[in-house]
Amino acid sequence: MTNKKRRKKRLRLKSSFKRFCVYFLFFLIVGIYAIQESFEIHKLYEYRKTNEYKILALDYTQEETDLFLQKLDEKQIAIILENEYNEDYYHILKEPYYLAKNFEKYIEYKKEFREISYKDCIAIVNTHVNEGWYNVSFETDTSKGNIMLVNKFYHLNEEYERADLENVSLQYAYEDNKAASEVIEAFERMRNDVREKLNVSLMINSSYRSYKVQEETYISFRKNDNIVARPGYSEHQTGLTLDLTSIEHPMADDFTESEEYKWLIENCHYYGFILRYPENKKYITGYDTESWHFRYVGIEHASKMYQEDLTLEEYYAYYIEK
Ligand code: DAL
Ligand code: ZN
Repeated sequence: MTNKKRRKKRLRLKSSFKRFCVYFLFFLIVGIYAIQESFEIHKLYEYRKTNEYKILALDYTQEETDLFLQKLDEKQIAIILENEYNEDYYHILKEPYYLAKNFEKYIEYKKEFREISYKDCIAIVNTHVNEGWYNVSFETDTSKGNIMLVNKFYHLNEEYERADLENVSLQYAYEDNKAASEVIEAFERMRNDVREKLNVSLMINSSYRSYKVQEETYISFRKNDNIVARPGYSEHQTGLTLDLTSIEHPMADDFTESEEYKWLIENCHYYGFILRYPENKKYITGYDTESWHFRYVGIEHASKMYQEDLTLEEYYAYYIEK
């Protein structure tokens, strides 16, 4: 072969190699692009199966969706997905005393009572009030000690009587009274401070009441459920409760207006007491306000309840029972 022919052949080979490279690159790029696309399509297909996608598709915002995903389990998310957009879910989940176990009950209650605030809805459901006074009954967990709950839903059995009941000195009780020793000590400290600050003497009108005595009390008040607890349902039976007034203001109405009462509601938590049936909380406690009825729960619990403005019912549901 002549040199000329050899050169021609080399040039032909070179140009077909170039063509091959161009085609190869072209198909490589198209191939990569196609793989990427199918990957994206697959991702989208998978995303459409997620709860996030389905919740967003119901017109919830990303913030609402994130909160649902963070706080709800699969069963609860299924409820959201089965229904139309409902702002209640988000507001309920944002409430500070929200309890996951009550999610469905909150929704149900709010649906029935539209005018109730989310805050009250949470409090009502947490404390069983939605179930109706005395409609359900649980045995009080007495192992909880000072923080045990006795009310229209939690009861003590007929025999319950704590072992450390002590007689209250007649110096500061109008008649024979008994209470848990820790309660008497706390009361003595509080009484001394009230005397020192206001020159007034607190007195105990009633404290521990056995099941039997409570039964008599309930009957003597014509079984008025707004004022007196049914036997077994009175926290007087715990030995942790004191009904107080003062020598200077022995009548409840005067006591309510007195300086010592004002002092007590602001300071009794420093001694471990709470005002048990405050004004505006009847819808939770089930009782008309009682300016005289103080319950010992210990300083730590009492201070927290005071700071967070919680009744024992609300506090117990959220922090103790959960
Ligand atoms: N008065 C309160 C509610 C009681 O009887 O225990
Ligand atoms: Zn009382």
